[in-house]
Amino acid sequence: MKNTPQSRGITRRGLIGGTIAGSAAAALASNAGAAGIVGAAAVSPGAARHELPKLPWADDALQPYITANTLSFHYGKHHAAYVSKLNASLEGSDAKDMSLKELIVSAAKNEAHKKFFNNAAQAWNHAFYWNSMRPGGGGEPSGKMAEKIAASFGDYSKFKAQFAAAAGGQFGSGWAWLVAGADGKLAIEATANADTPIAHGRKPLVTCDVWEHAYYLDFQNRRPDYVAAFLDHLLNWDFAEKNLG
Ligand SMILES: [Fe+2]
Repeated sequence: MKNTPQSRGITRRGLIGGTIAGSAAAALASNAGAAGIVGAAAVSPGAARHELPKLPWADDALQPYITANTLSFHYGKHHAAYVSKLNASLEGSDAKDMSLKELIVSAAKNEAHKKFFNNAAQAWNHAFYWNSMRPGGGGEPSGKMAEKIAASFGDYSKFKAQFAAAAGGQFGSGWAWLVAGADGKLAIEATANADTPIAHGRKPLVTCDVWEHAYYLDFQNRRPDYVAAFLDHLLNWDFAEKNLG
């Protein structure tokens, strides 16, 4: 069968999420991994059924910075594959009933669950990344996030420079994160490949995917331009504030 989103049960309706930012964030917060969309027909009863969450906006909503073409691959192929591979690998495992977050935390320290880490973390990271962006986002935050940024970095321009340096400087594939420390201060970190702050007990607020598949179709090798677009036009400060708690 041709490997299209439709062939895996991901319809165009699934790609165009409409206004589900709240529900997607809620699903992330609870790490709900219940009823599956991906390959649901092929999943046997009792198998793990982690879900490919809907995008929180229409697939052309982030244009011209992130195009529907990029999303058709990044969401429709890459993210979908992490979820479907995870579900397949969990079949018959004692970890099949764990939430995505429980599985990531367990896989980071439990040798028996280590094999699930990459697909589980990538499934979680991507859902978090979609919610880290919104049309008309980016720029300086206001309110609580503005105060936190000023208290943690000095001012917004210093935050921006530090985030851009972390995202641009991550060698190879990975992620740049704004995280909240236990002391209430915000910090920036970069993680390699599938690694994620939640595996290490840290609290992420937003993330920028710096794997080439996130930007190559739109920016080719110009990762700094993609990161600048994320910071200036896409970053969802409301989501960051929600995650602060
Ligand atoms: Fe990605």
